[in-house]
Amino acid sequence: MRLPRLPFDPASLSRLTLIACGSAFLAAHVGRYSIEGLARLPCDADVASELRYRDPPLADGGAAILVSQSGETADTMAALRLLQVGGQTVLSIVNVPESTMARASDAALLTVAGPEVGVASTKAFTAQLAVLACLAIDFARRRRQMTTLEEGRLTQALLAVPSHAAAILGQDARIRELATEVAKARDVLFLGRGPLFPITLEGALKLKELSSIHAEGYAAGEMKHGPTALCPSGPLFEKTASNLQEAAARGGRVMAFTDAAGATALSRFAEQVVTLPDIDSFAAPILHAIPVQLPAYHVAVLKGTDVDQPRNLAKSVTVE
Ligand code: F6R
Repeated sequence: MRLPRLPFDPASLSRLTLIACGSAFLAAHVGRYSIEGLARLPCDADVASELRYRDPPLADGGAAILVSQSGETADTMAALRLLQVGGQTVLSIVNVPESTMARASDAALLTVAGPEVGVASTKAFTAQLAVLACLAIDFARRRRQMTTLEEGRLTQALLAVPSHAAAILGQDARIRELATEVAKARDVLFLGRGPLFPITLEGALKLKELSSIHAEGYAAGEMKHGPTALCPSGPLFEKTASNLQEAAARGGRVMAFTDAAGATALSRFAEQVVTLPDIDSFAAPILHAIPVQLPAYHVAVLKGTDVDQPRNLAKSVTVE
């Protein structure tokens, strides 16, 4: 893995701020989990529209990462100016190389997802997650928090993403089936823990945007019921499974995305279980983003709403 030269040295940072809007913020939120977890670097993940008016104290010589598909979002641009006035070094992760944000930042890392035409961010979101995962590994190495062996294992997990993504897309018919049930729902709650919590927020955001069904993402530990869940096996499996079991006991219709080991346990009470490949937990957010976004697409098609150009939404939000 080779990253371009960064404008700051992650080894000398005591704190990092990640800022963005919408889905890009949710990618930043996942990035916070992986950078804190692997590189042991304290991070804040902040919504740009909040940061710009909160006037937060900024660390001397501090650094920030902005995430944006368009590189033109007004609130993220305002946050960039505030950070620069506050003496922060800013790296932006953008998809449009010639964008204002890419040019105004100290350095830009390109997501190279190609032009994204649909209003709702999908491939750009996946690419943002992938770039942030690469940065997390790089920061961990430079902060001497990771062995070469571990670095090799995580790099392999990222290299396996395309084949796992293809396997998940191969389940599209199954996800479409699940979407026919989701389309009938008045409210949909997405539950997950750890770095999959921001992915639940992404699933809910997409469903709201594309199909106008009320949806919310929840950290599973905060919730007692809900119909859709991300629950791969791993250290937090038992806790999330028990949240789901409670949900089912209270009449919630549980639909779960999990792996083979999780499927056996969850099929006792989940109405629908979609079995995903066995995925390294490091790459799980990138891959779980696919099955949470796909139902929104299918529900929109079933309801006849415009998938590419949802009502009242603009691709690039250049005004406040
Ligand atoms: C959601 C979506 C939006 C954008 C947000 C930020 O599906 O696409 O929430 O993520 O408007 O836009 P960019 O990434 O261009 O700054």
